[in-house]
Amino acid sequence: MNPRTLAREAAPILREFAASPVRVVRALPDEWRQRRGKSPWTESDFSDDWYEHLHRLVGAPWPCPDAEQVRGLLADIGALLAAKGLGTGRHTYGWYSDAEIELCGAIWCAVLHVRPDVVIETGVAHGVSSRVVLEALARNDRGHLWSIDLPHPLNHKLHGTTGAAVTDACRPRWTYLEGESKRMLPPLIAEAGEVGLFVHDSLHTARNTLFEMEQAASVMRPGGVMLIDDIRGHDGFATFAKRHPEYTTVLCSTADRMAGFGIAVHAAAA
Ligand SMILES: C[S@@+](CC[C@H](N)C(=O)[O-])C[C@H]1O[C@@H](n2cnc3c(N)ncnc32)[C@H](O)[C@@H]1O
Repeated sequence: MNPRTLAREAAPILREFAASPVRVVRALPDEWRQRRGKSPWTESDFSDDWYEHLHRLVGAPWPCPDAEQVRGLLADIGALLAAKGLGTGRHTYGWYSDAEIELCGAIWCAVLHVRPDVVIETGVAHGVSSRVVLEALARNDRGHLWSIDLPHPLNHKLHGTTGAAVTDACRPRWTYLEGESKRMLPPLIAEAGEVGLFVHDSLHTARNTLFEMEQAASVMRPGGVMLIDDIRGHDGFATFAKRHPEYTTVLCSTADRMAGFGIAVHAAAA
């Protein structure tokens, strides 16, 4: 990192440190780790046909008549966020990003085709992925979303924007739980019942991703789906795939090859 970029990135962290030293000191090592991680993958590990694979694995038709609808939904979400003075896309929540269109498409179709009663996600920020889940649950007229989120640990000015993309109409099917996933997920898992869809989009370190996946796997219903964002910087998803042959895994890249997510479908659906 060149000295100018370092100074630009360090300044808000130092300001935050002055306001809340304990929170910043606790968060910094993992925040740093997730940004500096090395990819365990090669480009050939990512499937160009991931969307079709996902549909095949959950027993849904392909081409999918519902797949394109997510574009209109994302346009609505973008307009809502813009009306609230918020950006959409990459690095619009500190250095975190809204879920990319590929992940949103996977979420949309997974909810429509798996028809889960229980969805759990980690990582809300603006709530783009939350809104996509909730709109699909509304279409199914069934299911509930539990979302765990630790608002940006290094920038408290963003905290008021949490869930900004989620409309009032969607909120009856939504429970928002604030805190670190390593603390919030185990009691939720103990209470929520069988999970049909789990979405990870919180702290993207190997340790946290693997921890969340193991938690979700302990209550995953046969044929359930996990969508695990930002797998390019660590080997957490790969470790889970090796440990759990009962899951079929597929990797999806964004079109610009900068980001990517993993799909893990419980074998009962394959
Ligand atoms: C990539 S953003 C989520 C984007 C969101 N899924 C969307 O589509 O708009 C990551 C979120 O996870 C939160 N986060 C960071 N560390 C966390 C942790 N340990 N547990 C839970 N959430 C965490 C961040 O503050 C941020 O709100």
